[in-house]
Amino acid sequence: MSLKDQHIVIVGGSSGIGFAVASGAVAQGARVTIASSHADKVAAAADRLGPNAGGLTMNVTDPADVERAFSGIAAFDHLVFTAGDWGGPRRGAVKDLDLDAARTMFNVRFWGALAVVKAAQSRIAAGGSITLTNGMIAHRPRAGASVSSAMAGAVEHLARGLAVELAPVRVNCVCPGYIRTEVWDSIPAESREAQLKSFTEGQPLPRVGEPEEVAAAYLFLMTSGYTTGQVIKVDGGMGIM
Ligand SMILES: NC(=O)c1ccc[n+]([C@@H]2O[C@H](COP(=O)([O-])OP(=O)(O)OC[C@H]3O[C@@H](n4cnc5c(N)ncnc54)[C@H](OP(=O)(O)O)[C@@H]3O)[C@@H](O)[C@H]2O)c1
Repeated sequence: MSLKDQHIVIVGGSSGIGFAVASGAVAQGARVTIASSHADKVAAAADRLGPNAGGLTMNVTDPADVERAFSGIAAFDHLVFTAGDWGGPRRGAVKDLDLDAARTMFNVRFWGALAVVKAAQSRIAAGGSITLTNGMIAHRPRAGASVSSAMAGAVEHLARGLAVELAPVRVNCVCPGYIRTEVWDSIPAESREAQLKSFTEGQPLPRVGEPEEVAAAYLFLMTSGYTTGQVIKVDGGMGIM
């Protein structure tokens, strides 16, 4: 199975991992539509990807907006969901947790993914695929991050359930470790490398991953016609330590 002339919609494709998936797919001859909530980011990223890329503005926390955005796409082959947000005071000991803030942890990455799948699934070609995204916090919990672990685990199980329900469309999940994307720009530049090194130094591959390295897993899952209901960890070996 090849991605040549396939149409791929990448929600979260204006940045980071999603942008690397879009770039890798275009390099393999696909046509991509990237989507995210900021029109200026979408336009700039689509421009960088070149003539085989288009853009859509969509806020995945608003189901009506998601439906509106997909109503403009009749049919396509593969859906990739990499949208994620990072704001908000959602971490801390469970005894101090603000439950309303904790609930918001699920808004983009879980409920957003579900809203996108709901709106998109009837437009995906048989033999096409959906690839969701979680994170290694699902498998390597940390004190103060129980809600993150639960959210990431929920995404993984959503993929497994959808793989049964939506077959023959295949549904899988990629589980990244620490990947060098725009998300880490919030760490001051002078201490960023040292921090990323400290996060990863116990791993068999003691470095942060590059977006292209994790994008390879999404490209594999789109083209591997007999793979469904799976989770691929791209984590430098973090999960075996
Ligand atoms: N980078 C890592 O180390 C790492 C590790 C583990 C897991 N992950 C997971 O991988 C996914 C991608 O991460 P990344 O590093 O590529 O992040 P990123 O560079 O910040 O990209 C996130 C993307 O999501 C979009 N987005 C955010 N809120 C949205 C909304 N409400 N509606 C639509 N789009 C929205 C952003 O664009 P707009 O701002 O325009 O909306 C952007 O395109 C996330 O789920 C993250 O949890 C990343």
